[in-house]
Amino acid sequence: MSTTLAARSRRFADRVARASRAGSAEPAEPPAEQPPHRELVRRELAAYAARIRLDALLRTHGTPLFVLDVDRVTTQLLALRQELPDVQIHFATKSLPHPAVVHAVDAFGASFEVASRGEIDLLEREGVAIGRCLHTHPVKTVADITGSYLRGIRTFVVDSHGEVSKFHGLPSDVAVLVRLSFPNPEVRCDLSSKFGVAPERAAALVEHCLRAGLRVAGFTFHVGSQTVSVGPWMRAIHRTLALMRRLERAHGIRFDTLDIGGGFPVPYDEPVPEFSALARDIRAALAEAPSRYRVLVEPGRFLSAPAMTLATRVVGTTERADGC
Ligand SMILES: Cc1ncc(COP(=O)(O)O)c(C=O)c1O
Repeated sequence: MSTTLAARSRRFADRVARASRAGSAEPAEPPAEQPPHRELVRRELAAYAARIRLDALLRTHGTPLFVLDVDRVTTQLLALRQELPDVQIHFATKSLPHPAVVHAVDAFGASFEVASRGEIDLLEREGVAIGRCLHTHPVKTVADITGSYLRGIRTFVVDSHGEVSKFHGLPSDVAVLVRLSFPNPEVRCDLSSKFGVAPERAAALVEHCLRAGLRVAGFTFHVGSQTVSVGPWMRAIHRTLALMRRLERAHGIRFDTLDIGGGFPVPYDEPVPEFSALARDIRAALAEAPSRYRVLVEPGRFLSAPAMTLATRVVGTTERADGC
């Protein structure tokens, strides 16, 4: 991120913090003297285009041209590692299933989150150690589960009773994470209506897994893609850890994994808080977790979006009354 955009992100984070302290849901508008965020983005894109000599690329390849800058994946991974040093990174493969990206993530020492057979095929072709990957799709066929197991995956996700019996007969080194649903209507992409069990119904699902002889390693959630305030993570982490403590006491079991999913935002047309500000509060919330827990993240957009630029030709422009 350029210093100008980074400075704006910092100011945005400060405003959100001030607004939430004042009990207001809406952050204040940016100060009038600032250039609009879109203008800053435009300037940053122009500088980036000059840096990568986009004009020469366009002369060679024409438009539309999709430019993949894998170094930016590594830069984002470094930011994650620096700001959340104790978490294990599992790149959400579906966000950019490209061999060059797989290599960059693997070379960095991070692992992968997969949700389909095609993603495992890709990782296998690129020589990734599949045993470190997570399979996070809460709805699978028995063949998906068995095939993934045979290829090395040991950790899966469930969010319903019906899914549990599909694990019957697999060796005891299989474990599941129970996916919780935390609705987040403010986010660009709220996944909670599609996936996850409500926290108040999670105990029954864990008990069902235990009765079926399926080991529950812990919990996972996704607060929604492009989440621009830390509140949803703080609440979800706090509630999940309380649930884990309660279930450990009630059943005499020990969980070992807390997966806080993806959702980390990137600046498009609107400013987003600086990642270091989000991460600082996430670290504080995670301080409640027992040290024996491994904490996982599954970033998709945060690693992929900055690496992708689409160059297209503008054929014509006009201004319409509705502003669109
Ligand atoms: C299970 C899971 N993990 C991680 C991600 C990545 O989310 P994001 O791109 O918001 O980081 C997704 C996105 O759909 C997901 O479904």
